[in-house]
Amino acid sequence: MQRQDARKPLVVGNWKMNGTLGANEPLLAALRAGLDAALLTGVEVAVLPPYPYLAQVSAWLGETPLSWGAQDVAAYAEGAYTGEVSAAMLRDLGCRWVTVGHSERRALLGETSEQVAVKIEQALKAGLQPIACVGETLADREQGLTESVIAAQLAPLARLACVGMPGQLVLAYEPVWAIGTGRTASPEQAQAVHAFIRAALSAAGFDGAALRILYGGSVKAASAPALFAMPDINGGLIGGASLVADEFIAICRSAASA
Ligand code: PGA
Repeated sequence: MQRQDARKPLVVGNWKMNGTLGANEPLLAALRAGLDAALLTGVEVAVLPPYPYLAQVSAWLGETPLSWGAQDVAAYAEGAYTGEVSAAMLRDLGCRWVTVGHSERRALLGETSEQVAVKIEQALKAGLQPIACVGETLADREQGLTESVIAAQLAPLARLACVGMPGQLVLAYEPVWAIGTGRTASPEQAQAVHAFIRAALSAAGFDGAALRILYGGSVKAASAPALFAMPDINGGLIGGASLVADEFIAICRSAASA
């Protein structure tokens, strides 16, 4: 990635475990038609389908400026790891991005921040751009623990400061209480955490000015403009709304004009 792209807004559609070959087609056709070159001068847009649909997505989006990626990656390079998918395989399928440490994986599969850091290393080594997800639960927030929880999630990333080129690592702040709940963090709540993340990673040796920090958690076309107007919010990681073409395209437009 070029240095001048480092803070270009980025909107990423996380399809989660949704879709079929048939249902994906109209969605991909609508994205291809609705996200034209003029719009994409102001925003980078990517989608993250489940693994089995990566080839389909690459066939639909391969000739466009849209990019794609995966929702997870193995912590190992290759070998006897049944069921795992390596970073090199994702590159082979034309992936540019991979999310790591999504709160659903942390909560349901016990993924730790240390494992997340190892996955980021694998992704960077293979030439993927990792999107590292962090966020607090409602109980954390109510007990005033938001910053300490996020600091602990970021801590294992410190050793990666010299691995990534500026702009390679992307962060996503996703408060667990806002994911799929229809409850969005207010722009001010999100901005405060984004500024905290930028400061924490700058202190750890990252180029904070070049770091893109996405907000995720029930972002909709209606809530996107105010979120993207915040100085430390550099785009969005969009779940439910990324499955609805008009909604997702409207979110991309907000980011492009932010
Ligand atoms: P949501 O999901 O937009 O459906 O809340 C966001 C995410 O989990 O990445």
